[in-house]
Amino acid sequence: MCGIVGYIGAKNATELLLNGLESLEYRGYDSAGIAVFDGEKLRVAKEKGRLSVLREVLSKSPAKGNLGIGHTRWATHGVPSVKNSHPHTNESGTIAVVHNGIIENHEALKAFLKDKGYVFVSETDTEVIPHLIDYYYDGDLLSAVQKAAKKLDGSYALGVVCSYEPDKIIAVRKDSPLIVGLGKDGNFIASDIPAILSETKDVYLLNDNEFVVLKKDGVSICDTNSAPIKKEVYKVQFSAQASQKEGYEHFMLKEIHEQPQAIRNTLRGRLDKNLNLNLDNIEFSDKIEKLYIVACGTAYHAGLVGKKAIETLAKIPCEVCLASEFRYGEPLINEHTAVLVVSQSGETADTLAVLRMAKKECNKVYAITNVVGSSIAREADYVFYTYAGPEIAVASTKAYTTQLVAFYLFAIHLAELKKTTVAPVLDELKNQLLNLDGAINEAIALDEKIKALSKKIAKEHDVYFLGRGLDYFVAMEASLKLKEISYIHSDAYASGELKHGPIALIEDGTVVISICTNPDISNKLNSNVKEVTARGAHTVGFTSCLSDTSAYNEIIELPKINPILAPLPAIIPLQLLAYHVCTAKGFDVDKPRNLAKSVTVE
Ligand code: AGP
Repeated sequence: MCGIVGYIGAKNATELLLNGLESLEYRGYDSAGIAVFDGEKLRVAKEKGRLSVLREVLSKSPAKGNLGIGHTRWATHGVPSVKNSHPHTNESGTIAVVHNGIIENHEALKAFLKDKGYVFVSETDTEVIPHLIDYYYDGDLLSAVQKAAKKLDGSYALGVVCSYEPDKIIAVRKDSPLIVGLGKDGNFIASDIPAILSETKDVYLLNDNEFVVLKKDGVSICDTNSAPIKKEVYKVQFSAQASQKEGYEHFMLKEIHEQPQAIRNTLRGRLDKNLNLNLDNIEFSDKIEKLYIVACGTAYHAGLVGKKAIETLAKIPCEVCLASEFRYGEPLINEHTAVLVVSQSGETADTLAVLRMAKKECNKVYAITNVVGSSIAREADYVFYTYAGPEIAVASTKAYTTQLVAFYLFAIHLAELKKTTVAPVLDELKNQLLNLDGAINEAIALDEKIKALSKKIAKEHDVYFLGRGLDYFVAMEASLKLKEISYIHSDAYASGELKHGPIALIEDGTVVISICTNPDISNKLNSNVKEVTARGAHTVGFTSCLSDTSAYNEIIELPKINPILAPLPAIIPLQLLAYHVCTAKGFDVDKPRNLAKSVTVE
């Protein structure tokens, strides 16, 4: 969950490295550092805290040079501190390394290297890498990195520079993202495309164990035995501006407001106005008797809605699992099961591990992801891209709603394949998907009411969310949004569960937010709300179908839509609620404490 960047070319490396790191801070930001070759030696500067701290230090003591690497950290081994920050170097300071990932055998390597007389100064796993490269170095940096990489277990995206060979950067990835940027005044490596977008849109998407020799006038790629690998240039479709805020105060607010466009982009080319659905003829064998939907966090919550859509329309049994549980839970997977992984970043370590495990055992592995060329995208048998555009805020919003759209399309497609739902029902759903703008914009227009409500919620220590069926899954996502950016304790409960324990938490003034979009069970939810109101709760109803609202202290009217699509407009005011509560509390909306945008370590 760190960000790495490297540059070699005609320009001053420091400014390009810092700008690149700035757009990678969403990957982690508890410390940052750079190493620049100044004509004689590697100048290393690293500071604890945000990138602005490092910028301040460098403004007083500039690092000048045309070759450099940089890193923004999300700590895994070793607390955030200067000595644990990257780049890490060998003892003589002639080799510097930036790393994203986890070296799982770092203890054994540390013991081996210490036995050879190497001295360690940090608590990190990463520090074994520069010493190991030093151990193998005999005048050929690429060869030394290849030999060192063979000894590394775990995940890594590496950028390596050496003062004896200041004409190149060596880079390699395994299970952590890394791309090459091909600029007109030099070349780049980066963890993610936004880091180099202001300089170039021409990139190489790297696969595992591909070694990069980056020089100012050319890039060569080879395998671990130096056999050349030819790469196609991938032209990035979104602009540098698309990964900036465009006038909104925060990325999260921008991304909430982008949802109508993001949904249209995800539908485009797949569902036309004649209701023809084209999912590139995704195959789904009749041998498949069960579909596991596996993901983390918000993507998991989208999977819960996806299960309902697929089971209702395509009658395929689905089980939704957390990736971190699935991968070690000895799941019953075989040729009669398929796995669908969901991941905005396409790099989440647990989800990627599930994909790789499932590919060995399952009939087929599908993926829904938002990042073209991500590891999950490239390794799945079939990938369904959401076209939400770059999602920078740590709290996921447009990725979630476009994942729901992906699930709806997938469910309809399977229903048509299996002929499990009559065409008029599917056509009605397709029409509503094509005309979502109304409901989504109506939901966004609730912003003022939500902002008023947020003033009260911001003062709370505990907020509980209730729902039944799909509304329960929306409640789970709403609760995650609130807790992860406002740090308010929050939980979501199936409202029928209250009497089995959670209602003990209700006392005078406890805030309970309920979501009700299904008229078939609205009276049941109403009864549950009356139970908590009777015990002093302050109840807020987000509803599109309640006739009797006497049990509520406040009501937020949701747009009316087919109940199976209801999570799409329902989640939007709840995203806005989390946003406004966070800003009311003065916290960092886009970079909440302890979190990173992409959890690329276990
Ligand atoms: C959601 O707001 C969080 N940022 C987090 O739960 C996220 O959804 C989770 O880490 C999964 O990320 P992915 O979709 O990139 O795999």
